[in-house]
Order: sequence, then structure tokens, then C-alpha cells
Amino acid sequence: MPDEQSIERVAVVGGGLMGSGIAEVCARADLDVVLVEQDSEAAAAAKLALESSIEEAVQRAKLSPERAEAALGRVVASDDLADVEGCNAVIEAVVENEDVKREVFAELDSRLPDAKFLATNTSSVPITKIAAATRRPESVLGLHFFNPAPVMPLVEVVNSIVTAPETLEAGREFVTGRLGKDTIDSQDRPGFVVNALLVPFLLSAIRMYESGFASRESIDRGMILGCAHPMGPLALSDLIGLDTLVAVAESLYEQSRDPAAVVPPIVNRMVESKQLGRKSGRGFYDYD
Ligand code: 3HC
Repeated sequence: MPDEQSIERVAVVGGGLMGSGIAEVCARADLDVVLVEQDSEAAAAAKLALESSIEEAVQRAKLSPERAEAALGRVVASDDLADVEGCNAVIEAVVENEDVKREVFAELDSRLPDAKFLATNTSSVPITKIAAATRRPESVLGLHFFNPAPVMPLVEVVNSIVTAPETLEAGREFVTGRLGKDTIDSQDRPGFVVNALLVPFLLSAIRMYESGFASRESIDRGMILGCAHPMGPLALSDLIGLDTLVAVAESLYEQSRDPAAVVPPIVNRMVESKQLGRKSGRGFYDYD
């Protein structure tokens, strides 16, 4: 019997690339998951993305068909935020927009008075600003997953100046004890630890390509074969999503004025024309 305090039912709000991946991680860890999107079409798309990722895990022999079926049975996709009621914890992964996130957190605060923590997967909005939209900012922390969430072992645990130590401990324990992932701690600073290092690197690879210094293949093969990266920086930018990359870079620049965080014009043009990388079928490479 699960004890009264343990987290057994989790809400994941936002079912895009990260949200559906985080929901999958939770379901594969035997948690009941309510995956909330803004309308029924988006909720169905999120469930479909989760199903095909689980299917891929089965094909790669990372998950047995029985466990895959059980995990799928634990996920309910919904288009109504009211359905989070009864969840013991929440991880938000909606669009990287401060106003939208604040609105979601204000509602989560009123619907989940007993949740152990209210976590955001943001990579660009300060945790403090999100926490300030609630009446209990001490329960808000960052749990920053990496893409693809079912595969990447790390979650950054982000401590804002208002986060309570018990909240951080509950978040850490949930990630390591329940989800089986590793954590590092980060302060609520732009980019946290990983993106503060990664994003300037990706942007300088993009500038190298934009200036004609080297082809995309040379840049990517250079980092794969020369530095043993699992994929090159242009392919990785496509995986992350160029809209997300822009959001993180702008947040880094806004708060640091570091020229290394300036978004190269080519990326803005690509985002404006909906070339967002893998998720839209086209970025630096084509994905048919
Ligand atoms: N479920 C379970 N396991 C899976 C899987 C899935 N859906 N998809 C892939 N895997 C496993 C494979 O089985 C393999 O495991 P193994 O090494 O134990 O055999 C491993 O992942 C690698 O797979 P492959 O060797 O087949 O190579 P792929 O091309 O499929 O790997 C990748 C894809 C895992 C994405 C790899 O290229 C990679 O690690 N790339 C770097 C990703 C990265 O840096 N992500 C961080 C982005 S930054 C971010 O997200 C932060 C944000 O805020 C911007």
C-alpha cells in the first residue's frame, strides 16, 4: 500500500516535446499521470507522441511489451486543467512564455493545495517569477529535464530564492528515488548549469555555418568524431527545437548581455518560417 505521503499520481501540464516525454518517464516509473493540453486535438497529439515513443522503446528492447502496455494504461490525456485535482505533484512544461506559465501556476496553486511540489520544466523563465504567481512560492521549484526525456539521465533541480529546502528535497527524492534519474543542483540563474554552457556553443556552431566557414556536415561530424559528442551541434539544435533555442538564448542575453548569447539572424528567419527542427520536419536538416 502506498503511504499517504508518497507521490503516486502526477500531473504533467503541457504535452509538447518535453511534456509528453516527461509524462512517459513518469508512467514508466509506475506513476499515474494526468497529461493536460489546451484542447482535445493537442491532448490527442500528446498521447500519440507518447505512444510512439513507448513503441520505439519496445522495439529497441528497452521496455517489455507488458510494461509498455501498463505504462500506457496509466496515462490519461485531458484538455481540462481541472483534471489535475487529486494529483500529489505537478510538472509544468507548457510553452516558454512567462505570462502563460504564471497563469497556469495560479490555477495549479488553487487546484492542488496538498501537492508536495509544483515544478516547472522551464529552461528560460526565472523560477522566482513563476513562483510569485502562487500563494505558496516555497513549494515551487525547477525540475529541468533534457530532450529526449525518456533517454537522457539528468534532471537539473533548480532552487529559487524562495524555494523551501523541503520542496527541493522532495523534488530530488522524486527524481532519483522514483524516476531513477540523476540530478545536479542549480541556482535560478539564466540557462541554469547545462544550458548556460551548451547554448553559447550551439550558437557559435550556427554562426560558423551561417558565415560559410564550414558546411553543416563538417561542423557536426567534427564534433562527433573529434570530440565524441553523440550528435553534432546543428543536429542537436534541430532536436531541441529552434524556437526553444531562441527562447533560452534570449533569456541568457537579456540577463547577461553576453554577446555569445546573441541569436544569429539565420535562426530567427528559420523560426519565422516555421523551420523549427525535427518537430516541424525541417531545420538545419530535413526530417521526412
Ligand atoms: N526509449 C528508450 N531508449 C531509447 C529511445 C527511446 N525512445 N530512443 C533511443 N534510446 C536509447 C537507445 O536504445 C540507445 O541506448 P543504448 O546506448 O543503451 O543502446 C541510446 O538511447 C542511444 O540511441 P542510438 O545509439 O540508437 O542513437 P540515437 O541516434 O537513437 O540516439 C540520442 C539519439 C539519444 C538523442 C543521442 O543522439 C543523444 O544523446 N544526443 C544528444 C542529446 C542531447 O544532448 N540532449 C540534450 C539537449 S539540451 C536540452 O534538452 C535542454 C533544453 O532546455 C534546451
